[in-house]
Amino acid sequence: MIKNDLFLKALKGETVERPPVWMMRQAGRYLPEFMELRKKYDFFTRCQTPELASEITVQPIRRYGMDAAILFSDILVIPQAMDIEVQMKPNFGPYLPNPIRSQEDLDKVIVPDIQDTLGYVMDAITMTKEKLNDEVPLIGFAGSPWTLLCYCVEGQGSKSFDKARGFCFTQPKAAHELLQKITDTTIAYLKAKVKAGVNAVQIFDSWGGMLSPQDYQEFSWNYIQQIVDALKDEAPVIVFGKGCWFALKEMANSGASAVGVDWTCSAQNARYLTGGNVTLQGNFDPARLLSPPEKIKEMVTQMIRDFGKDKYIVNLGHGILPNIPVENAKAFIDAVKEYKE
Ligand code: CP3
Repeated sequence: MIKNDLFLKALKGETVERPPVWMMRQAGRYLPEFMELRKKYDFFTRCQTPELASEITVQPIRRYGMDAAILFSDILVIPQAMDIEVQMKPNFGPYLPNPIRSQEDLDKVIVPDIQDTLGYVMDAITMTKEKLNDEVPLIGFAGSPWTLLCYCVEGQGSKSFDKARGFCFTQPKAAHELLQKITDTTIAYLKAKVKAGVNAVQIFDSWGGMLSPQDYQEFSWNYIQQIVDALKDEAPVIVFGKGCWFALKEMANSGASAVGVDWTCSAQNARYLTGGNVTLQGNFDPARLLSPPEKIKEMVTQMIRDFGKDKYIVNLGHGILPNIPVENAKAFIDAVKEYKE
């Protein structure tokens, strides 16, 4: 039994006294105690060492008391496990020296045994659960197959992922084969995470908004739906797509317990597009955390009124930015905890 079950209640659509709150990318980045560990250990060492990953996961909970923790890791551990080399370059971001550009490249990509390749994630979950001591639920996550394809084909971050989209449109057969391999790996991975103890899972489709609504159905949504189908009876699933307001209807009808919304979609529109019945999560503009704390509190209170306190999880509309002052992040969390109807 989890002591603070606000988040799990909201995922079930149950009535709550106030909505739960957590922040995407809350583990790491802007926290001084994280920056200390970051000086000493490189990125994948932090991910692969359960002591470090679990410590980083609980740091924001200790400081702010969010209603859920998210496991410190990265979406790119999946391509790594599939035998695609991934480096995290300081001041640059992800770098994949051998991107997938042809059927020949693709033939080398494996669907791995999860315990052999990603057992360290399960160990990090076990250790995190011990540290959390059932105070708050733990969220596990994965990137969407499309978002992972973006990195695998582009080889690095990009503003528009032209090479990734070009790959899908010039070599659709290969693209679908890669997406299916990622999907199969992701399903096994998320099932293992649930078995290891996570209480919910979130799928991040960070680059879904790069696709047209039709192409989104073909290259992204079909695969996310497979993941939701495979996971929904084992744990609540949250689907989040950045820039994907056009897919909110499918997301709401998918069997997912909650649907993430970014800040370019109003609460009213999000409720309308999702049919009013599914739990929504979002959608504070991450850059708005640069406003003065008093302004943040005022805007968060208004955001809760706009979404309604039930069937709602307070969050940002995308990950927290690295330059957010700790007192501003605190104002965001406190505003929710102080919320009264
Ligand atoms: O709350 C959390 O932060 C949990 C851990 C987490 C990380 N990455 C750690 C990380 C999560 C949930 C992610 C997801 C992730 N990773 C996404 C989807 C969410 C989103 O923001 O869109 C994406 C697209 C990635 C890929 C990735 N990893 C990029 C583009 C970068 C570099 C830029 C940056 O800082 O985000 C990373 C590196 C990364 N992943 C860092 C952290 C804390 C920073 C690098 C470092 O600490 O050395």
